[in-house]
Amino acid sequence: MTAKWNPESGTLLDLAQDQGLTLPASCRAGVCGTCAATVHGQTAYLVDPLVEPRDGQALLCSSVPAADLVVEEN
Ligand code: FES
Repeated sequence: MTAKWNPESGTLLDLAQDQGLTLPASCRAGVCGTCAATVHGQTAYLVDPLVEPRDGQALLCSSVPAADLVVEEN
C-alpha cells in the first residue's frame, strides 16, 4: 500500500488505520512498544516515547515521516 502523509494525517499509525490497515497498537502514547515497526527512512517523534524501539524501528503511534518512508508490516 502507498499512502501520502500530510500534517492532517496524524501519526503513522493514524494514517495506516485510515487506509484500512489493522496494525498492532495498545496505548497509542509511546509507552508500551506494541506498535513498533521496521521502517526504512527517517521518522520524527511528535512526543518523546517512553520506550526506545530497536534500531531500524519506530513507534508508529508517536511518529511521523521526516522524508519518504517505507514501513514494513511485521
Ligand atoms: S501503541 Fe503503545 S507505544 Fe505505540
